[in-house]
Amino acid sequence: MLLLAAAFLVAFVLLLYMVSPLISPKPLALPGAHVVVTGGSSGIGKCIAIECYKQGAFITLVARNEDKLLQAKKEIEKHSINDKQVVLCISVDVSQDYSQVENVIKQAQEKLGPVDMLVNCAGMSLAGKFEDLEVSTFERLMSVNYLGSVYPSRAVITTMKERRVGRIVFVSSQAGQLGLFGFTAYSSSKFAIRGLAEALQMEVKPYNVYVTVAYPPDTDTPGFAEENKTKPLETRLISETTSVCKPEQVAKQIVKDAIQGNFNSSIGSDGYMLSSLTCGMAPVTSITEGLQQVVTMGLFRTIALFYLGSFDSIVRRCMVQRAKSEIADKTA
Ligand SMILES: NC(=O)c1ccc[n+]([C@@H]2O[C@H](COP(=O)([O-])OP(=O)(O)OC[C@H]3O[C@@H](n4cnc5c(N)ncnc54)[C@H](OP(=O)(O)O)[C@@H]3O)[C@@H](O)[C@H]2O)c1
Ligand SMILES: *[C@@H]1O[C@H](CO)[C@@H](O)[C@H](O)[C@H]1NC(C)=O
Ligand SMILES: *[C@@H]1O[C@H](CO)[C@@H](O)[C@H](O)[C@H]1NC(C)=O
Repeated sequence: MLLLAAAFLVAFVLLLYMVSPLISPKPLALPGAHVVVTGGSSGIGKCIAIECYKQGAFITLVARNEDKLLQAKKEIEKHSINDKQVVLCISVDVSQDYSQVENVIKQAQEKLGPVDMLVNCAGMSLAGKFEDLEVSTFERLMSVNYLGSVYPSRAVITTMKERRVGRIVFVSSQAGQLGLFGFTAYSSSKFAIRGLAEALQMEVKPYNVYVTVAYPPDTDTPGFAEENKTKPLETRLISETTSVCKPEQVAKQIVKDAIQGNFNSSIGSDGYMLSSLTCGMAPVTSITEGLQQVVTMGLFRTIALFYLGSFDSIVRRCMVQRAKSEIADKTA
């Protein structure tokens, strides 16, 4: 009986491996490709642009501040591998007006050809307890992080489907895989991206267009330093349980996964665990990945329970500390 079950399992795995070429997409060739990076003037986005440029792509950077854009353009151009390569800069707010975003994408396509890969990296984070965050912060984060990814994607998708070529990358966050203290506004805007990406992937897969969702951990960027200023003590202590990544490393992984057409892109052992735990009904891009998910999920859930317990105790400790210092203040 046991032998039969084992034989069945082996046959099943073999079968899966046989159909795997049908599932795995053909890698995208970056040399000569047109890559648009929103948020490409700073942090992770800038490193993604550099990584693609190093591999021979033509780049369009999209962000608001023109000085930062020009600065980034100069930095990226140092990495050229041939003298035909171009870095185009476009100043626009991706979160405000769809027709404006559509127009600038049109301009970029006229100059550098149809977009082969769009990386939605423009984003921002503000932390704070739910009741301390301004209501307008929820609206702002949703429009920059969510709508700011919808608009550029909407502007390139028709051409990608027509050409039967394309990659769309959404930069979510580990905070888009689990909700943490202080991130009620940020996490929800990053969770929203996942829903968009899953639905979109099902629509565009028959057109050879592949979607990647990246879940970076804390990464050493100007945006991270800015967010750090707003973090409550609890959020900081929880963040400090993991280390901070270099943006170059995160960018390398994202570009690699996007080229391969992987739906998920994550970094490090925490990232691997979170992606496996939260894969849900996400599309699978290779059989190996699917098998890994099936095998690891129970174990990772067990480990996750310990993490959750330790986060809860951090929160409780902070609460007790605050109460004590309040009493001390009153008696002083
Ligand atoms: N750093 C981390 O720890 C971390 C972790 C997980 C996920 N992420 C995500 O990764 C992405 C990049 O983060 P980062 O830390 O590299 O950020 P960053 O250094 O602050 O860079 C953000 C980029 O987005 C642009 N941008 C912001 N709002 C925009 C808007 N409304 N319209 C157009 N461009 C806009 C900025 O340029 P302008 O200000 O000039 O417009 C800049 O180029 C974000 O989506 C972030 O949520 C970051
Ligand atoms: C974050 O801010 C705190 C103080 O608010 C500071 O002690 C810490 O070094 C900062 N961390 C980073 C990575 O900027
Ligand atoms: C997610 O992507 C990373 C690479 O970015 C890979 O190592 C990992 O196996 C993937 N995890 C899942 C669950 O697909």
